[in-house]
Amino acid sequence: MIGMTDVDLRDRHVLIREDLNAPLRDGRVASDKRLTAVLPTLNAALDRGARVMVMSHLGRPTEGEYDADLSLSPVAHRLSELLQRKVPLVRNWLDGMDVAPGAVALCENVRFEVGEKANDEQLAKRMAALCDVFVMDAFATAHRAHASTAGVARYAPVACAGPLLAAELDALGTALRNPRRPLVAIVGGAKVSTKLEVLKSLSNRVDELILGGGIANTIIAASGRGIGRSLAEHGLIDFAADLLRGEYGDASIPLPTDVVCAESLQADARGRLKAIGDVGVDEMILDIGPATAVDFAERLHSAGTIVWNGPLGVFEHPEFAAGTATIAAAVAASPAYSIAGGGDTLAAIEQFAVGGGISCISTGGGAFLEFLEGRRLPAVAALEDRGGSAPPGA
Ligand code: 3PG
Repeated sequence: MIGMTDVDLRDRHVLIREDLNAPLRDGRVASDKRLTAVLPTLNAALDRGARVMVMSHLGRPTEGEYDADLSLSPVAHRLSELLQRKVPLVRNWLDGMDVAPGAVALCENVRFEVGEKANDEQLAKRMAALCDVFVMDAFATAHRAHASTAGVARYAPVACAGPLLAAELDALGTALRNPRRPLVAIVGGAKVSTKLEVLKSLSNRVDELILGGGIANTIIAASGRGIGRSLAEHGLIDFAADLLRGEYGDASIPLPTDVVCAESLQADARGRLKAIGDVGVDEMILDIGPATAVDFAERLHSAGTIVWNGPLGVFEHPEFAAGTATIAAAVAASPAYSIAGGGDTLAAIEQFAVGGGISCISTGGGAFLEFLEGRRLPAVAALEDRGGSAPPGA
């Protein structure tokens, strides 16, 4: 796989796939995170005199239909401010784009184009025909085998990895393939079912697996303790029991010793501290308790590497935020190499203002999870298969 720094960009038409799938509110970008993450890539290409064309998707529109609510227009506007230069949005970009050296334009939402998600060959070829160099830089969309991520990489005259994609792959690779031990993973969130493969894969790779949220509730239930009305997946209790028994790997899975419960999640709900095993039938577990948080924080302090995906409790509610806050602070304070990813995790990092202490914050949600599952990401595979070779038929 070649990198953007290996390629001469001067005067070249450089098509860069980014993930600018940012949340919008009232027609404006509500979080800049994915935009600021791409600035170094775009500035590097612009400084080198490239004619920069940026592609991205936004949301999940119906292909073949223009949807003003999912136009990249607010993104173009915000990107102009952040880059401090004009970023025109080009609606019919597949018909050709006129971009001067050292200038940048944004292509309208790639998912408006029929064939994007099916990785249609003709569409990929039209994208490839726009450029001299294709740069895949969207780690957060690298798990999608789409025309603008994987297909175009096959047909572009030159295809390479952008600095953001390369840095995220490098960080995750370091954390999982060659980690400083002990390697500790924190997996939280609502559902075991969405993280089944991640849990299997991590239990075979990490030394300790710390669980939180609905996932932990299912594990607690599998250990034979009552969980009242807590969020859990009763159909997956056998899986959870197998995980605890070490069926998928040797990772130790410390169970919480205390939890914070309530009977509702309403704004005025008050948390009650309970020892594990004492949860009432009408109660829900909504956070880990302070003794558990201290225990988990100590494990994080002595970790060599930490991988974090998912909150430990309902951190959006002040009454149930303390567990996730303690763990977020412990990840940030730990001398371990730490990597965090996923939408809720990023929201928690922001809420508890601990970003500065985390070694790498991934832009990926689904892509981060698929990497943790140990899968080969299709867009990365396309670059690797291509190497530095010419496109077919060249
Ligand atoms: C994400 O937000 O995880 C990426 O932008 C991918 O979006 P998708 O799940 O709609 O493909």
